[in-house]
Amino acid sequence: MKASAPGKIFLFGEHAVVYGKKALVTAIDLRCFADVKKRDDFRISSPIGITGLDFEKHPYISYAIKRFMEIKEIKGADIEIKSQIPVASGLGSSSAVTVSVLKALDAEFEASLTNEEIYEIARKVELDVQGIGSGTDPFISTYGGCWLIPDRKPVNIGKVYFLVINTEEKSITGDMVKKVASLRKEFPDVVDSIMSAIGGITSVAIPHLENLNNDKISKLIRMNQCLLKSIGVSSEKIDEIVMKLNSLGIPSKLTGAGGGGCVIAIGDLEKLTEVTKVFPNAFFVKPEKEGAKVE
Ligand code: MEV
Repeated sequence: MKASAPGKIFLFGEHAVVYGKKALVTAIDLRCFADVKKRDDFRISSPIGITGLDFEKHPYISYAIKRFMEIKEIKGADIEIKSQIPVASGLGSSSAVTVSVLKALDAEFEASLTNEEIYEIARKVELDVQGIGSGTDPFISTYGGCWLIPDRKPVNIGKVYFLVINTEEKSITGDMVKKVASLRKEFPDVVDSIMSAIGGITSVAIPHLENLNNDKISKLIRMNQCLLKSIGVSSEKIDEIVMKLNSLGIPSKLTGAGGGGCVIAIGDLEKLTEVTKVFPNAFFVKPEKEGAKVE
């Protein structure tokens, strides 16, 4: 059986959400597809290569299988992955692969898991691999849509356009979250204040996104990016892209764990289209309503 799950972007609130602060996150129209067939042993095939159960090369898929087998004993499976989501880029490829594999395993082996159970397993897999994380990425991949987290409140963000520019540098979520955790250990009060400020930006931004108040959204995006930079999760490449966009009058910020990965710009379609002339690798993504599904 074949299943798919979407990637995601953080509009506001990455890292702060790890400390219980508010974040606004939407699924996007890039998906990961997992094709699972019964077999006597395990074979995983993805753009990374072909392996058996391999916790080094295919950690998310291997842990997803291990966790699934705690619920339903299986002898083996042939798992083939095709993804539209760039890997380690802040767009939720790891969670999309985890959730799509779980959804396809569920369908192939008739485990009758609910979406909430799929989310719970994917959440465990996130912790198995990264050791730390808020569970936001697996939640969005499972349910699709745009949500205020941790409230689990759906948000209607209206007709917003997102332009994504990939730095082509890898963004490793576990490493970045641990880096922030160690800064917080060194300066607990300072880092907690920054996290609260980021959560505050999310809350203030929601009505402006609903009413498409571009001027206010722009200012809030700029502030969020500065705060992310202050906790060490920007990079020279991200800063360069953000500065260039700023000089074109377009606010932008990193999305996801940072340290590399993607920059997003939110705003007016006409203005954003101009940007694609300056950044040839820029691409548009749309909010996606559908979460994990059997294809
Ligand atoms: C990663 O996409 C988002 C972070 O906030 C980590 C997490 O929420 O687990 C950096």
